Amino acid sequence: MKNLVILISGRGSNMVAIAEACAAEGWDARIAAVISNRIDAQGLVYAQRNGIPTAVVNHRDFEDREAFDAALAQVIDGFEPDLVVLAGFMRILTPGFVQHYSGRMLNIHPSLLPAFPGLHTHRRAIEAGCKVAGTTVHVVTPELDHGPIVAQAVVQVRPDDTEDTLAARVLVMEHRLYPRALRWWIEGVLEVTVDGRVVHLGGEPQQLIGG
Ligand code: GAR
Repeated sequence: MKNLVILISGRGSNMVAIAEACAAEGWDARIAAVISNRIDAQGLVYAQRNGIPTAVVNHRDFEDREAFDAALAQVIDGFEPDLVVLAGFMRILTPGFVQHYSGRMLNIHPSLLPAFPGLHTHRRAIEAGCKVAGTTVHVVTPELDHGPIVAQAVVQVRPDDTEDTLAARVLVMEHRLYPRALRWWIEGVLEVTVDGRVVHLGGEPQQLIGG
């Protein structure tokens, strides 16, 4: 059974979607812990109510990113993770931290990467006149919001969309996409190309939802 450690910073709706899919679909995995850098992260409440161990490592308690990441890694490793799952974890990670979890850390980002890494993705997609937007699950590498793409989901950008309406439709897709991607990882069906850049799924087309 694989141990998943999920990192959140706030609402935690992706974490809930993952926990529910894990239970409903009987994954060979368990949520070993939900860890937040914010004590007031709403998602912690769901985890506590559902018997999932939680921890908080408050970034404000540390002098710099290196010290925070070192403390965070220590707490994560206490739960013996097979996979670290970033689910709305809003911290820039140090290269050393990323290296420590190399090949065993996934992230979800609310854009069709490599477009719009960073913040305010939906606003930027609307401002750029994009006709599609979406979300990406990728393997975490030292460069922010880069790394081999595991799966993507697309939605149409409607002429009357605001940042909020677009974000809401993308979030619905995230809740379908992330559990699916994690399940593939747990089942060991993902293949990374020799150059380490591209993730395939045995020729299946389901790496794209929507579109
Ligand atoms: C999600 O939309 C996720 O893609 C985004 O934060 C939201 C978290 O929602 N992550 C990033 O922007 C990371 N760069 P949630 O807490 O309800 O899962």
